[in-house]
Amino acid sequence: MRRSQLSALANLQNFLLKCLLAILSYGPMPEHVAFIMDGNRRYAKSRSIQQGDGHRVGYSALIENLVHCNDMGVKYITVYAFSIDNFKRDPIEVQLLMELMEEKINELLDNQSVIHKMNCKINFWGNLDLMCEPVRLGAQKLMASTAGNTGLVFSICMPYNSTSEIVNAVSEVCAERREVLQRDHAGDSNGQAANNGVHSEISVSDLDRHMYSAGCPEPDIVIRTSGETRLSNFLLWQTTFSHLQSPHCLWPEFSFKHLIWAILQYQRVYPYLVQNRKLAKKQL
Ligand SMILES: *[C@@H]1O[C@H](CO)[C@@H](O)[C@H](O)[C@H]1NC(C)=O
Ligand SMILES: *[C@@H]1O[C@H](CO)[C@@H](O)[C@H](O)[C@H]1NC(C)=O
Repeated sequence: MRRSQLSALANLQNFLLKCLLAILSYGPMPEHVAFIMDGNRRYAKSRSIQQGDGHRVGYSALIENLVHCNDMGVKYITVYAFSIDNFKRDPIEVQLLMELMEEKINELLDNQSVIHKMNCKINFWGNLDLMCEPVRLGAQKLMASTAGNTGLVFSICMPYNSTSEIVNAVSEVCAERREVLQRDHAGDSNGQAANNGVHSEISVSDLDRHMYSAGCPEPDIVIRTSGETRLSNFLLWQTTFSHLQSPHCLWPEFSFKHLIWAILQYQRVYPYLVQNRKLAKKQL
């Protein structure tokens, strides 16, 4: 095919995607989409490129998807960038990943970056104390510098796992309770003992308040690329009603086309998801 024919084909494909998007926008759109970005290493292997370059292409795919989601009106994007268990990988790969993160965080800190153009607010969910200092400091700076932004909320889980998030929330609630008890003791000496009984109960909403995800709606869709069907300790507390999808493409290949397909699938099962949610509310 000649180049002009190829570009006409690309234009046509783009046009068709835009039409699809217009159709999609009549249906229910997800508010929150979460991604498990699986397959960067496999991508590198299959293309015989360096492992680090697989992660780099993966990062570009992430930014591209962020922009598309933003254009579609998705308000929250959450990604699993680095699990606590990833520290067990080959130290050379871990080091490479840390360097890549530092580089990309510094890029995002520049106020000309795509993040700032989208007025995006960035969160890091996880135990940043486990990260090396440059990454930790960069992450904290990025959170502080985007905290006032009112656009897309982009949450990066790293280094994260869901069990650790839940344990963290429980210990924060306990610490809070201890503080209240101590204050009650120190205050009134005729002591409202009845209050102590109330304080000792821990409720679901107490834990909700102390999850990294506090204030963020639960994901409508969780997409794990490269055909894997496990959640691998990602947002276990938050995904009861999420629609799980596992497209076969590797993360660096996940494009606009895949995103549209994911939303179409979501819209197809939407009535069923709503019904599930309603039923759960009734039983409470
Ligand atoms: C960010 O923007 C301010 C002005 O709003 C400018 O003074 C500053 O140099 C910019 N910083 C970077 C890193 O681009
Ligand atoms: C999750 O994180 C904790 C550390 O907070 C760690 O002990 C555990 O091995 C990790 N993985 C799983 C599967 O729980």
